[in-house]
Parts: sequence; structure tokens; C-alpha cells
Amino acid sequence: MLELRNITKSYREQPVLRAVDFTVGEREMVSIMGKSGAGKSTLLAVAAGLVRPDGGRVLFRGQDLGNLDEEGLAAFRLHHIGFIFQDFKLIPALSAHDNILLGIYPRRDIALPEKTRRIGEFAAQVGLSHKLDEKVDNLSGGEKQRVAIARTLLKKPAMLIFDEATSALDSKTEQALQAELASLSRHHTTLVIAHRLSTIVQAHQILVMDHGRIIERGTHQDLLARGGVYAQMWNMQKKDDASVTPG
Ligand SMILES: Nc1ncnc2c1ncn2[C@@H]1O[C@H](COP(=O)(O)OP(=O)(O)OP(=O)(O)O)[C@@H](O)[C@H]1O
Ligand SMILES: [Mg+2]
Repeated sequence: MLELRNITKSYREQPVLRAVDFTVGEREMVSIMGKSGAGKSTLLAVAAGLVRPDGGRVLFRGQDLGNLDEEGLAAFRLHHIGFIFQDFKLIPALSAHDNILLGIYPRRDIALPEKTRRIGEFAAQVGLSHKLDEKVDNLSGGEKQRVAIARTLLKKPAMLIFDEATSALDSKTEQALQAELASLSRHHTTLVIAHRLSTIVQAHQILVMDHGRIIERGTHQDLLARGGVYAQMWNMQKKDDASVTPG
């Protein structure tokens, strides 16, 4: 479904992506891991047609994004891509409802009553119904995140892109959302910058990035067997988790 070939990108002459290659099949989930500054968010921005690479090609269902002009790219993102950004990118002065509506408002193929119906239905599913008329400024971190998720999912995009989407939640809400995301990712192609073991383990493919390169890739089992960077991270996180479990 999505193919990145030999992608390079520099900012101020500093290489941020160096010859990155990967392929994602329909309804597959790819987890991207790596240190801060490794290039994870930049890679997703390139994959989603938000940032143009300096070199290499991005193919979405066979279409080369490099052949699209700005308007073409904007239409591509509107119809096919759902983003949930690290910082949510909500409009604080607008209500939760209006923030969600803004995400799908430009879609002329969905009538307004259908848009409103989807918002109400989704809000009920994620426990946001009583906050729909509240200004986003007055919401908690976890609530803001659910607004951002609602705004994205209601477009029913072909490809979902999450940048650390579940970091601001209390653990109960997080578990509920994690389950929601797991079931959604079965119906969408999903690229996720993941920190949580539960998200990472279920991925079809894990990419470990370092200094703009993919240094390890494979399934959880592949990477554990390899005994490299991923296996080290996994063992460290497991130790941390074990230390908070009684007994
Ligand atoms: N628009 C930009 N202009 C200049 N430099 C940028 C820009 N975007 C990213 N960078 C730089 O590119 C490098 C990679 O950034 P990126 O956001 O992709 O990292 P990341 O792996 O997502 O890190 P984190 O885990 O902290 O979110 C960083 O050094 C960052 O400062
Ligand atoms: Mg990032």
C-alpha cells in the first residue's frame, strides 16, 4: 500500500533521514521506535505527504506523491491520511465538538448531518459526550487526546498515523484507548511512533531508527532473537514494569 524508497531529507544541511526504505501492506501496522531526534516524526511526515523528501520516492497504492502539486498533496492527505500529532494541534478557543468537526468539515462527500451524527456516536464510545461543548482549553490532557483521535478517525482514513498518541492518558483511559486503537488498526494501515510495549508487540513490522537510518527491522520475535538494540530496550522496559508489579 505504501512504499518508501531511498528517502533522504536534511534540515539546514544536517541529514535527518538517510536512505530510508520500507513497505507497508494494506491493514498492516508498523511501529517506529528510536531515540529523540532519530528522525521518526520526519519519516512519518514524509510518508504522509506533509513534507517532501530531498531524494527518493513515496508511493501510495502505486501513485508517486512526488508527481502531485501542493493542491494534489493536500487532497491526498484529506482523503487518505489521518494524523494524530505529538502535540494534538487542536484549536484551544473552540469547543471539542467544533475541533472534531473541523477535521471532517472539508469532506464534501460526507453530508453535514452525517458528520454531526458520527461525532455524537464516537464521543459516546470514548466517553466524551459530556465534554463536547467545552472549550478545548479547559480539557485535561487525556480528553484533548481523545478529541484529536476523534477528529482523525471520523474521516475514516485509509492510513492512520500516530505520533506518540497515547502518552498523556491515565492508565485506565489508556487501556480503553489502546483497545480501541488495536481494533481500528485492524481496519486501517497504521504507522505509529510507539513507546508502549503493548503497541509495539502487536505490530507486523517494527522499525528501529537511529540517526536517520533504520538500524533494525522485523517482528517482535525476530528482533528479540537478534539480540540487538531492540532486545536491549525490551529487556530494560520489562525490568521497569516488573519493578512496579507487587511481588
Ligand atoms: N522543520 C524542521 N526544521 C529544522 N530541523 C528539523 C525540523 N524538523 C525536525 N528537525 C530536526 O530533525 C531531527 C529529527 O527530528 P524528528 O522530529 O524527526 O525526531 P523524532 O525522532 O521524532 O524525535 P522525538 O522522539 O523527540 O519526537 C531533529 O534533530 C530535529 O531538530
Ligand atoms: Mg517526534
